[in-house]
Amino acid sequence: MCGIVGYIGKRDSQDILLEGLKKLEYRGYDSAGIAVFTGQELEVRKSKGRLAILEEKLEGEPLRGSVGIGHTRWATHGKPSDVNSHPHTDNSAKFSVVHNGIIENYIELKEELIAKGRRFVSETDTEVISHLVAEEYDGDIVKAVQCAVKRMRGAFALGVLTEYEPDRLVAVRFASPLVIGIGNGENFIGSDIPAILEHTRDVYILNDGEMAILTKNSVELMTIDGEIISKEIFHVDWDLVTAEKAGFEHFMLKEIYEQPKAYRDTMMGRLSDDGRSVQLKEIGMTPDQIKSIRNVHIVACGTAYHAGLVGKSVIENLTRIPVETDVASEYRYRSPIITPETLVIVVSQSGETADTLAALREAKRCGARVLAITNVVGSSVSREADDVMITQAGPEIAVASTKAYTSQLIAFYLLGLYLADSLGTRDSEWIAEVLEAMQQLPEQVESLLSQSNVLKQVAESLAKHDNLFFIGRGTDFAVAQEGSLKLKEISYIHSEAYAAGELKHGTLALIEEGIPVIALITQEDLYEKTLSNIKEVKARGAHVLGIVNGGSEIEVGKSVDELFAIPKTLPLLTPALSVVPLQLIAYYASLARGNDVDKPRNLAKSVTVE
Ligand code: F6R
Repeated sequence: MCGIVGYIGKRDSQDILLEGLKKLEYRGYDSAGIAVFTGQELEVRKSKGRLAILEEKLEGEPLRGSVGIGHTRWATHGKPSDVNSHPHTDNSAKFSVVHNGIIENYIELKEELIAKGRRFVSETDTEVISHLVAEEYDGDIVKAVQCAVKRMRGAFALGVLTEYEPDRLVAVRFASPLVIGIGNGENFIGSDIPAILEHTRDVYILNDGEMAILTKNSVELMTIDGEIISKEIFHVDWDLVTAEKAGFEHFMLKEIYEQPKAYRDTMMGRLSDDGRSVQLKEIGMTPDQIKSIRNVHIVACGTAYHAGLVGKSVIENLTRIPVETDVASEYRYRSPIITPETLVIVVSQSGETADTLAALREAKRCGARVLAITNVVGSSVSREADDVMITQAGPEIAVASTKAYTSQLIAFYLLGLYLADSLGTRDSEWIAEVLEAMQQLPEQVESLLSQSNVLKQVAESLAKHDNLFFIGRGTDFAVAQEGSLKLKEISYIHSEAYAAGELKHGTLALIEEGIPVIALITQEDLYEKTLSNIKEVKARGAHVLGIVNGGSEIEVGKSVDELFAIPKTLPLLTPALSVVPLQLIAYYASLARGNDVDKPRNLAKSVTVE
């Protein structure tokens, strides 16, 4: 996720672009840049780091001109650096591009362009776009962009300028957001409404496969095939703060709703063209190195640790390699048995958590190979690990992690399938079936989210209690632990997650009349056992909400007080769905208690102390 802006009009563009980028910094903040047509040529200023660094640079060397594009980056391909920052240009520096999204086939395009003599200076996927547009240019920037876009696969929102036609700014949307702001003698583009809200409240919201050609006095809309389209103007009546959250009341809710996209983006570029196998180009292990893995340690903190609990189950189930999951703050101090045949997987949204980083260093010191699953390119964890899988969740602002957790689950599924394929522990037909089910997950999450009202009511009644329990078996227990943490950290309700079969060994003493119990019961082979545990708590007066896999509502419905069914999926994949109602329950319970949802007391987003 990155932010893009563009301006064409009569005013100086530099400050308009910078102001727009400030509003988009929540979409990424590891580097920023702008390109402006200065009257003779397109000039670019860009730099690694926060926008303030670019601003300082521009103070010394301002860019004067009334057409320009800008970008704030959240790295996906290539670490944060000056050269990887946007805008990107072709070798002649006559074409300039800002991009939000991922170009899946950039490696093959890059090879083709290099063979034609194009020189690449960055590690980004975006740079192929500027070279492609330059290559296709034959006196008409619109046609060149259309031809280039048709060669690209993936998700993108683009702003393109050429100094040959400085009176036109071209914008394209394909699976990444883009809006066009309509002004008076000036027009704008932005990844989101906040970027342009200061200047206009009239916008066109582009759909996938649509493009806009902006001059200072006109906006022409067409499909990428060149068919002219007309659209209603959307008048924005949100205030700026609401607009930054895309109309959601809190970042956490926005991020919960961004999960379908995070799932798709994390899978993007990692499946074969026919979608039947996993390709993890980022993993440098040879087949022999994979075969030599004797055990796996997954190490992480908090929510990332909970993703690791699901990861353990996935990897063991698919590869039969023994896996241990450890809380990072404990790992170093328990003298773990690490050998060069141990694969250590560290999981960290921020990639900066001190305990996780210390565990990574300990693992490397003992000669293990370290694979990182992280959301932040260029983070300490990503720099120090041997292999890095980036989750493509985009920046997570709310302290309570949601989309980062679920995209970690997707990463574990992809990794588990990849290892199973390499080891031959699962056949290709089986892997293809799992991948087919995985590709349905984003839509299934969308359908879950459409039932948020039901969960709001559940949460409002739970919010009146001071204690509650989550129970489950197998991966349901892993998800129960995440649901419990989410509820605790933002609603401040005390809750505990228990392995359903373990309650009777002590904690059952705490079950009394009216206490809420959330029971996850999505694993068919464990139904009967979990149902017995539900009966144990019900017999002591508990009020039970059952979260079930679609299709088992009637069977489980008889034993619980309330029921919420997730869309039917494979038992292996239920964590990627069953956690979503728990996130929404935590959110609405926090809201009902009047808490600061995005900034819960005593907590910080990134914990860089041990
Ligand atoms: C809870 C939460 C934390 C983090 C933990 C690790 O919602 O976000 O428990 O998961 O502090 O952080 P990262 O993943 O950045 O290492």
